[in-house]
Amino acid sequence: MLRLGRLGLKGLLLAGGHGTRLRPLTYTGNKHMLPIANKPMLMYGFDQLRAAGIREIGVVLGPLHEGIRESMGDGSKFGVSIRYISQPDPLGIAHGVLISEDFVGEDPFIVHLGDNLLKESIPSLAKDFEKSKADATVLLSRVRDPSRFGVVQINHGKIVKLVEKPKEYISDLALAGVYFFRSTIFDAIRRLKPSWRNELEITEAIQNLLDAGGTITFHEITGWWKDTGRPEDILEANQLVLSDLKPSTRGKVEEGASVAGSVAIGEGSVVRKGATLRGPVVVGEDSEIGLNAYIGPYTSVGSRVRITRAEIENSIVLDGAVIDCHERIVDSIIGKDSKIVSNGNHKPSGRRFVVGESTFVSL
Ligand code: DAU
Repeated sequence: MLRLGRLGLKGLLLAGGHGTRLRPLTYTGNKHMLPIANKPMLMYGFDQLRAAGIREIGVVLGPLHEGIRESMGDGSKFGVSIRYISQPDPLGIAHGVLISEDFVGEDPFIVHLGDNLLKESIPSLAKDFEKSKADATVLLSRVRDPSRFGVVQINHGKIVKLVEKPKEYISDLALAGVYFFRSTIFDAIRRLKPSWRNELEITEAIQNLLDAGGTITFHEITGWWKDTGRPEDILEANQLVLSDLKPSTRGKVEEGASVAGSVAIGEGSVVRKGATLRGPVVVGEDSEIGLNAYIGPYTSVGSRVRITRAEIENSIVLDGAVIDCHERIVDSIIGKDSKIVSNGNHKPSGRRFVVGESTFVSL
């Protein structure tokens, strides 16, 4: 039988779920399409799976999935084959895995949560897992707030307990949202009961696997890892990705504009005379950074954006937004096609926003 890519290893990207913590941004779109350094969040996990040599990827979608099929298609333009798996209700990560059983079959597979970003690349881990006999390999990272995550307890180098969002401290080793499984996980999921949040928890499924005598290995992440559940996490992920930004100018920088540090300017964009860009900053296509605009470090500006007069730092401005005000905007996410304008010329004072799509803010 002809197999695509490396022998049998498949990928599962989870892009369903609630997205409630990112409202209002997720009222009008899927959170996984929110851009981080101008690349949709979901594409980071997708690229990891491709880098691991995986050529068959299942994408689990909830009801709000605008833009995902459109940008990924059948996967052929990325050299992979994509199967979309529909999850009408967000009944849990383990539920998303279980409904993908037909797609996965008997092959080993990697589950990558669509809202997780990882600096470390997973290809060598994928190779190790394929060679190993482990039922599962999990990725771990030390965190300050373990009660927000799935957490593991380790004794003599072995995982002995896994708890989802522990109320009482058991350890500071959190489960990152990348899991390596074999088909033994499916029976472990079938034995689950819905948790307090009415979900089938993948953490409990792995505990089931352990209780049934399965082998669970782990790898502690050395680079950064980010779960982008909340707006502040998205901004932090944006910072982390922009820290490695390679400067490039495909657009135009007029004489009298000031551009310093790592700045990437997309095709058709123009930085006008009197504007200042202090990297790391990324600007998409066909955008205009106009007179007296200051775009400060760790800011991503999408495509077709127009910014004049304002100062913006550590923020994400989505496609089509217009910002024309004498204000200082910091730590903000400005939704698609939103407008923030003002007539006054008062002193900038630093305002924080999470502005949803098509919003109008007058200052
Ligand atoms: O980020 C790592 C954490 O992810 C782990 O430490 C936890 O053990 C794990 O349960 C998960 O916790 P969250 O509470 O952050 O999961 P969340 O509901 O945010 O969903 C994570 C991703 O999975 C997200 O991209 C949406 C997707 N998802 C989620 C559910 C509940 C689905 O595709 N279907 C679902 O039913």
